[in-house]
Amino acid sequence: MTGYGDSTRTVKAVDSHIIPGQPVAPQAVLASAYHLSADESESLDSYGRYSNPTWRQLESALAELEGATDALVFGSGMAAIGAALRALATPGSTLVVPADGYYQVRRFATEDLVPSGVTVIEATSSQIYDAADKADVVLAETPTNPALDVVDLQRLAAICHGRGGRLMVDNTAATPLGQQPLSLGADLVVASATKGLSGHSDLLAGYVATSRPEVIAAVQRQRLLAGAILGGFEAWLVLRSLGSAGLRFERQCRNAQAVAEMLAGHPAARSVRYPGLADDPSHPVAAAQMRRFGSLVSVEFADAAAVHALVARSELLIASTSFGGLHTAVDRRARWGDAVADGFARISLGIEDTDDLLADIERALSSRS
Ligand SMILES: Cc1ncc(COP(=O)(O)O)c(C=O)c1O
Repeated sequence: MTGYGDSTRTVKAVDSHIIPGQPVAPQAVLASAYHLSADESESLDSYGRYSNPTWRQLESALAELEGATDALVFGSGMAAIGAALRALATPGSTLVVPADGYYQVRRFATEDLVPSGVTVIEATSSQIYDAADKADVVLAETPTNPALDVVDLQRLAAICHGRGGRLMVDNTAATPLGQQPLSLGADLVVASATKGLSGHSDLLAGYVATSRPEVIAAVQRQRLLAGAILGGFEAWLVLRSLGSAGLRFERQCRNAQAVAEMLAGHPAARSVRYPGLADDPSHPVAAAQMRRFGSLVSVEFADAAAVHALVARSELLIASTSFGGLHTAVDRRARWGDAVADGFARISLGIEDTDDLLADIERALSSRS
């Protein structure tokens, strides 16, 4: 599916199994057990932890969007990342995880993998190239959550592969509509589909995508044995939403660019990070490897009270810690322990009309209580 726009890609990806006589809309198969043939000849489905027709439709759509041959869905992004790390970072190996990325991934590496004999190196986006030179497996997150630094994936892949290592990329923030890490040299993608791909703040899901059969086999084994599977209903909900992900992401990215530009010139904002801002330190690499710059903007206001006041005075902003949903959501990251200033807010842009959002934020920032 080359040469198509984002919405064409998402609509076509969901429709990849066109069977005459079958419904146009994806169907939810909710099953733990399947009828088996009396003579014990093989069937595709036998038990719900092994596979499910709704998973397979979703997996084929996600693989298509990521440019992979295969994808495996999981019950959350963390379930996907945990399975991929367990599959690749085997005892005795050295793993690099982002020091400035999603904090629960660092916890999983240090609390779960270190005791099982994995050496874990935490590296920021600028340290990751040197760290990769000592590692068997590198997990990069780009843009990072929450600071929105961008890692040069082609450069990093060359370092990893130069020493026989593997590169895993967390594509949650960019989504496959924003960047395709496999085409930049990554061996596998891990991601939360809880965010922009499903996009309605109503489920948790995750996936691994790769074109390496040995990686799929090792990750599939983890899913089968640890059992962190996606429910059939949630798989259907993601499929139902995926067709409109192109439209939603286009609007969210447009809103992010407009709000970042407005805040960059606003006296209430001490600093603004968005890879789409021409003077952002990440812009040159982002412009070379991303198709869109994403739906997240990070802003530093004076203090925690300034972030609270922004949400309280706004008619459109909500306080929420996830991202990629319909609403524009503000999350003060220091409350979760991220190493950022008290007034640092990650803003996840929703699908509201751009002019309404700009006017609302301007009003909320200028009003006095
Ligand atoms: C970059 C990143 N990766 C992974 C995850 C985990 O995803 P989930 O909450 O679906 O387990 C998150 C959650 O916020 C995230 O931001």
